[in-house]
Amino acid sequence: MAKKREQWSSNFGFLMAAAGSAVGLGNIWKFPYVAGHNGGAIFLIFYILILLVIGIPILIAEMSVGRATHLNSIDACKKISPRWAFVGAIGFLASFVIMSYYCVIGGWVLKYIVTYILTDKINDPTAFFNNFCSSSIEPIVWLFIFVALTALIVMNGISNGIERISKIFLPLLFVFIIIIAINSLLLPGASKGVKFFFVPDFSEINGIGDIGKIFLSALGQVFFSLSLGMGTLITYGSYLDKNANITKNAVSIPVLDTMIAILAGLAILPAVFAYNLEPGAGPGLIFQVLPTVFANMRFGRFIAILFFVLVFFAAITSAISLLEVVSAYFIDHKNVSRNTAALGSSLAIFIMAFFVSLSFGVLGGFKVLGMNIFELFTTLTDKILMPIGGFLMCILVGYIWGIPNMLKEISSNGLYKTKFKTGISVTIRYIAPALILLIFVFSFM
Ligand code: PHE
Repeated sequence: MAKKREQWSSNFGFLMAAAGSAVGLGNIWKFPYVAGHNGGAIFLIFYILILLVIGIPILIAEMSVGRATHLNSIDACKKISPRWAFVGAIGFLASFVIMSYYCVIGGWVLKYIVTYILTDKINDPTAFFNNFCSSSIEPIVWLFIFVALTALIVMNGISNGIERISKIFLPLLFVFIIIIAINSLLLPGASKGVKFFFVPDFSEINGIGDIGKIFLSALGQVFFSLSLGMGTLITYGSYLDKNANITKNAVSIPVLDTMIAILAGLAILPAVFAYNLEPGAGPGLIFQVLPTVFANMRFGRFIAILFFVLVFFAAITSAISLLEVVSAYFIDHKNVSRNTAALGSSLAIFIMAFFVSLSFGVLGGFKVLGMNIFELFTTLTDKILMPIGGFLMCILVGYIWGIPNMLKEISSNGLYKTKFKTGISVTIRYIAPALILLIFVFSFM
């Protein structure tokens, strides 16, 4: 156990990696649509309030557990209290399950990048997409490539692999999305999309029940987008230097994440509306609606390549954080080498993902509780594992470890002054767990 733990080489590197984990498919295919359909500006206001009141305190809690213990998520929770290792285990399991569908979609993104490099446009995007994703071989080849790339980065370690790649991919993603947003906003008719995104449609809001629904979607989106309750921030936090400023990072990560989510809305929605198309959430939006937009747009092929490359950057920087959660456990706990841990975990993920991929084709008829494998896995993580993980994390930090221990950790032994101590404490002990319980109950109703 005398092996020296790896570390980030700089705080900027950590920030890029953690923001890279947060910025993912959730920002690009969920946020614009969910915001548009849930009252636009009202959603945004709720989203930002929830970020401040719940997101940031839980980010702080997770990062401090990681940094205080310098361990993977399962052992970190166990070190705090031996009977609470299962909280880390929920995150571990959730990361594994999310990976198994995230990588399938990552593979599709690779296919689209290559398609646009080779051809001018996709003529019938819906048929193209359905043909591709329901076939039994090609998507699995792309899936394999995506998993292999993720494994390769993780095998190179924290500073040499994850940090180095995130420091390149995240800034590039930012530049690409700005270019695409400007291009979209300049299209004739773009304002309809901006209106859909920002201006609330009050005719859709009838009474307090709808406000409650908007609130709950914002809460769910904050959780997924910040990668909370998964052990990713415990794991990434465990490679932080004792002098790193946790609170400052816990503010910067959501700021970057939200900026990119809003830019994604501005890149996608104005273009979709300019061509009189309907936005949708999920795979349909980027793989079926956008290709029609690209086919009609000036420089469409170039914009399409830029777009799918940026989606690839977003997806792979999230995927490496999930693979690291799984690998770190084997590295710390089982004392295996990083290469073996990353390769073994990727192989297990690939096998699960193989079935997820087939659930869009030959295994489409295989249903559990009325859901195919893909739907089952997304429901399991979004509706069950993430909220339970987040809830238990608040209880673990708020009551078992205790707020004073957390505050000591984030002050780096007195190096930094912490503001809003009472606020953070009240949130972690009462507000966040109560609200999570609320989404949990509501999402089943
Ligand atoms: N935050 C990522 C996204 O928005 C998803 C994710 C969840 C990544 C949990 C890691 C852990 O797409």
